[in-house]
Amino acid sequence: MGEIDPAFIQSIEQRPKLTVTDPGEIPVIDLSALDSGAVDLLVADIGKACEEWGFFQVINHGVPLEVVRRIEAAMKEFFDQSIDEKRKVKRDEAKAMGYHDSEHTKNVRDWKEVLDIAVEDPMVISASPDPQDQELTEYHNQWPEYPPEFRKIWKEYAGETEKLAVKLLELISLSLGLAGDRLIEFFQGQTSLIRLNRYPPCPWPELALGVGRHKDPGALTVLFQDGVGGLEVKRKADGEWVGVKPIPNAYIINVGDVIQVWSNDKYESVEHRVVANSEKERFSIPFFFFPAHHVNVKPLEELTNTENPPKFEEYNWGKFMATRNRSDFKKQAVENIQIHHFRVSEQ
Ligand code: OGA
Ligand code: NI
Repeated sequence: MGEIDPAFIQSIEQRPKLTVTDPGEIPVIDLSALDSGAVDLLVADIGKACEEWGFFQVINHGVPLEVVRRIEAAMKEFFDQSIDEKRKVKRDEAKAMGYHDSEHTKNVRDWKEVLDIAVEDPMVISASPDPQDQELTEYHNQWPEYPPEFRKIWKEYAGETEKLAVKLLELISLSLGLAGDRLIEFFQGQTSLIRLNRYPPCPWPELALGVGRHKDPGALTVLFQDGVGGLEVKRKADGEWVGVKPIPNAYIINVGDVIQVWSNDKYESVEHRVVANSEKERFSIPFFFFPAHHVNVKPLEELTNTENPPKFEEYNWGKFMATRNRSDFKKQAVENIQIHHFRVSEQ
């Protein structure tokens, strides 16, 4: 055989990859099936989406549109104020809820500003990461003075999204073959929070990210986004970053690390990030559904057996959060604590 012309090899390599099946976009699930009684099919669809993507969008989710419009308007009014006004509700080591504009992911500044508000006020959480120290502490919300109706609007929004989160938790439990109410007990005294995100236009969109790649630590994230787009998900099928197409008034749902551990890796928590936009500002509102501080997270007994032994050591949610909060404030050049630190080593 003669030599192969290198130019020929290059031309093959540059040909677009042939895809046998298009791995596609994240699934869209219609929750109106909950009212029509076709719950079995819905549960199967949700299970498939959790397994194949870790992400899905929901439509006909029951959160009234006017409630969403009101929180959107209120958050815009809040963020439109001067930095000095916003810093009146600034987050610090003692007050973990509030405003901040320099979130760090892997020690890189994210291009965004944030207002965090806890669903339970006060939120009860472990005081220190030290496992010997049983002391608890309380986080209190810091409410902006402006706009004046902010607190009322936020509470109304929180109530509605929490209902959606609980509904989804039930559907996910059912999809794992568990009773619908199997997981809700872990949320009595929840540490959930709602984060209002504003991503300002970025003059160097190639150099910055709205949020760097990460996985969400909690059980579920229930996120509302506006029409701008920018959220990208690492597709499990091929490892490509795919954009989550904004669907007006849909919610984006993703499985977090806690569900990955409970399900013993059946439903993986998937990496995602937000790319920056040079022209438009973007708003998003994640509800982070987090368990109570005393919950020890471990693979559920019903989902493990001798063939499928637990893949994670048990860890305490409150200590896990306290460790993360500490590293956020110390800005340590160390990796945040992650569930893979609890992974049982393969023999
Ligand atoms: C997050 C997150 C995505 C978004 O805050 O954890 O992934 O679209 N946000 O704002
Ligand atoms: Ni996230």
